[in-house]
Amino acid sequence: MEQELKSNLQKIKGAMHVDSKRLGKVADDFAEEMEQGLRRQSSSLQMLPTYVGQSSGKEQGEYIALDFGGTHVRVARVQLCGSGVSQFAAIHKAPLLASDGSYDYTRGICVEELFDFLAQQVVLVADNRDLCLGHSFSFASRQVSLSQAHLVGWTKEINVSGIDGQDVGQLLTEALHKLGKKNIRPVAVINDTTATYLATSYEYAKTKLGSVCGTGHNTCFGSAGVEYDEILAFNTEAGGFDRLPFTYWDDAVDKASENPGRQRLEKMVAGRYIGEVTSQILSSLGGAFGETKVTPFHMAALLGEKEMELGSGGDTIAIQSVSEWVVQRAASLVGATFHAMLLRLDPKQNCSHVIGMNGSLFEKMPGFAAGIYQTLVETGGWSPAQLKLRTVREGPLVGAAIAAAHGSRKNGGRIW
Ligand code: BGC
Repeated sequence: MEQELKSNLQKIKGAMHVDSKRLGKVADDFAEEMEQGLRRQSSSLQMLPTYVGQSSGKEQGEYIALDFGGTHVRVARVQLCGSGVSQFAAIHKAPLLASDGSYDYTRGICVEELFDFLAQQVVLVADNRDLCLGHSFSFASRQVSLSQAHLVGWTKEINVSGIDGQDVGQLLTEALHKLGKKNIRPVAVINDTTATYLATSYEYAKTKLGSVCGTGHNTCFGSAGVEYDEILAFNTEAGGFDRLPFTYWDDAVDKASENPGRQRLEKMVAGRYIGEVTSQILSSLGGAFGETKVTPFHMAALLGEKEMELGSGGDTIAIQSVSEWVVQRAASLVGATFHAMLLRLDPKQNCSHVIGMNGSLFEKMPGFAAGIYQTLVETGGWSPAQLKLRTVREGPLVGAAIAAAHGSRKNGGRIW
């Protein structure tokens, strides 16, 4: 590798490294923003109450679960068997953007078209029985009950018009009615992190957080905080956190996005953006690197040291190193936010905790999970034995089913 490239890479490495002291500050700032958000003061963390607490582990029955994520819709008929066990009677998955370009439900349509599409997917797993439906909706929403939610704003580069002021629960109910499916009753709409939290607490009673590290990023935490006495899950909307060590490249990615100035943590740590951050850094190296467009898929392959054709050349070792720094920074920032949340729940750091995890970055990106653990141990001072990060298979679907179980027995979903 030529000398100039080597020295430029060293500079990038320095700019991307967030040392333990700075991570401690990120955690402190995150804690401060959480408190402000809980007190409804101005904060980059929305701390949205979710109208559900932990799972009892005993929920039972058959429900329809809908998971509307950043890139795909998944629907299933889920059988909750109690004692933390769930089974799938039917499951179906469809992309929001067809690979052959025949449809695109991520932009340029109105919200009714989107919900008609969601309802059509639901019908594929439903039968003629009366069943309650739980909806895991992967976007920031202000809930007014377990079954009613208003979108705060689209993220992950989705841009569908006409949702302002509309109730997500009602939109789905109407779309199902249009298809003659009055036997399916949407009774719960929750964030995907809340669903992850519910699904994990169904199996592990010590679950304190539910986090998604996939196309988007966010974390939900269960707390008996502030003015509530029973455990209530709060959707922190962690991706909006903005007291962070931004680089020039982060600002460039933010500027080019659908929502400049918002979701600043998400744009440093989530699958939708880390490829763009890596590409931005590479383009500042000039030459062939300027042409290199990297995706999280390339990054995972390079970090797993598999051979991968990136198309436009460039020095593979340089691309691999930049990918590694971007992934390490993402994992350590997420780890710092987990530390802040756990510390609030366990200030003496003497209990054990389970963190429910979901998302392709956590599950598939080499080094990501290890980076989170490392930060929790090295910066947070937690002992490795105290903490478990666990992924429940199809967590958002299982969580949506658990929420439907709560919604079906609680009048209108009001539990506090
Ligand atoms: C949304 C969150 C969601 C997260 C993970 C973010 O873009 O704002 O509500 O939980 O993505 O899907």
